[in-house]
Amino acid sequence: MHEPSQPADLHPDHTDAAIGPLSPHPEPGERDDEATLRPRRLTEFVGQSRVREQLELVLEGARRRGSPPDHVLLSGPPGLGKTSLAMIIAAELGSALRVTSGPALERAGDLAAMLSNLAEGDVLFIDEIHRIARPAEEMLYLAMEDFRVDVVVGKGPGATSIPLEVAPFTLVGATTRSGALTGPLRDRFGFTAHMEFYSSGDLERVLRRSATILGVDLRPDGAVEVARRSRGTPRIANRLLRRVRDYAEVRADGAVTRDIARAALAVYDVDELGLDRLDRAVLGALVRTFGGGPVGVSTLAVAVGEEPATVEEVCEPYLVRAGMLARTPRGRVATAAAWRHLGMEPPAQAPGDAPTLFDGE
Ligand SMILES: Nc1ncnc2c1ncn2[C@@H]1O[C@H](COP(=O)(O)OP(=O)(O)OP(=O)(O)O)[C@@H](O)[C@H]1O
Ligand SMILES: [Mg+2]
Repeated sequence: MHEPSQPADLHPDHTDAAIGPLSPHPEPGERDDEATLRPRRLTEFVGQSRVREQLELVLEGARRRGSPPDHVLLSGPPGLGKTSLAMIIAAELGSALRVTSGPALERAGDLAAMLSNLAEGDVLFIDEIHRIARPAEEMLYLAMEDFRVDVVVGKGPGATSIPLEVAPFTLVGATTRSGALTGPLRDRFGFTAHMEFYSSGDLERVLRRSATILGVDLRPDGAVEVARRSRGTPRIANRLLRRVRDYAEVRADGAVTRDIARAALAVYDVDELGLDRLDRAVLGALVRTFGGGPVGVSTLAVAVGEEPATVEEVCEPYLVRAGMLARTPRGRVATAAAWRHLGMEPPAQAPGDAPTLFDGE
């Protein structure tokens, strides 16, 4: 077993591989950039102040008792820092980090091998833990609770179960879909951290930190501009920063000012609220073709030439959060803010404006 530098691609199931700079999932080849920009310690981890404080207490308590901390579940949308936090937990404990993922644990034997290789105090990180196969999950219950597993040897009536000690370890599970976790698994985590989308102010801090590491001349008004368009997501903020840096170096003197950021992001079809071409197409169809709705998601998807799943899983969550689109029992409805964003006067019956985006936590 060696110390992994970067977890391998652990999200083979996402639907938006081709969707461009605003995807919350890593792009192919982006892993190395992410590794460079990953915060290494809790003090470097920007934002999520509540999660950070809770985690500090959990880790400090364990340190004082001299025993491994409770198992930790990190839950939240992609790109908010779950993998980074898992690595930080190991670093703060001075422990080795072992990395695997739910989809990689197809058979209980895969997990047994992983567990039996752990040394005392190790941190075992299981990414996308909601995708773990059932037999492995059941083995995990016992390992989490009693630090042992029962390995079944042989098949049929001759099969025997051999108990195996596991060194006391800390499990860190990450999931983008905590609702998909079974109750028994969820209950075995002593601490669950719910990651929230970042405020614009926190994203500015993420950007300033990244700019320092990358040697980018990011001006304060440039940071504000990039942060606003980053959908509350550090991964997207860092990606947009790289795109804006390229533009600044090729078309200007390298300084990322507000105007440079605007011009650069216009090239990538990222508008001032962080909506891309497809988001705007969805809103445009909803407003222009369907008079603001209500309309079913499949009809809406046909109108923009996309798969319903893409519209539902990629566009809608952000449009809903941005207060542009409402999901009602009768279908999707454009809010007054959506009409205005498209430069049109909303009809009287359009649902009102939702709270402003990501202002404060
Ligand atoms: N709090 C933070 N402070 C600074 N940078 C951050 C923070 N959170 C995330 N990042 C940056 O965002 C990138 C993505 O974070 P990370 O890989 O930890 O997200 P994730 O939640 O594991 O995403 P996924 O669900 O896709 O696995 C990291 O490379 C890191 O540079
Ligand atoms: Mg991750």
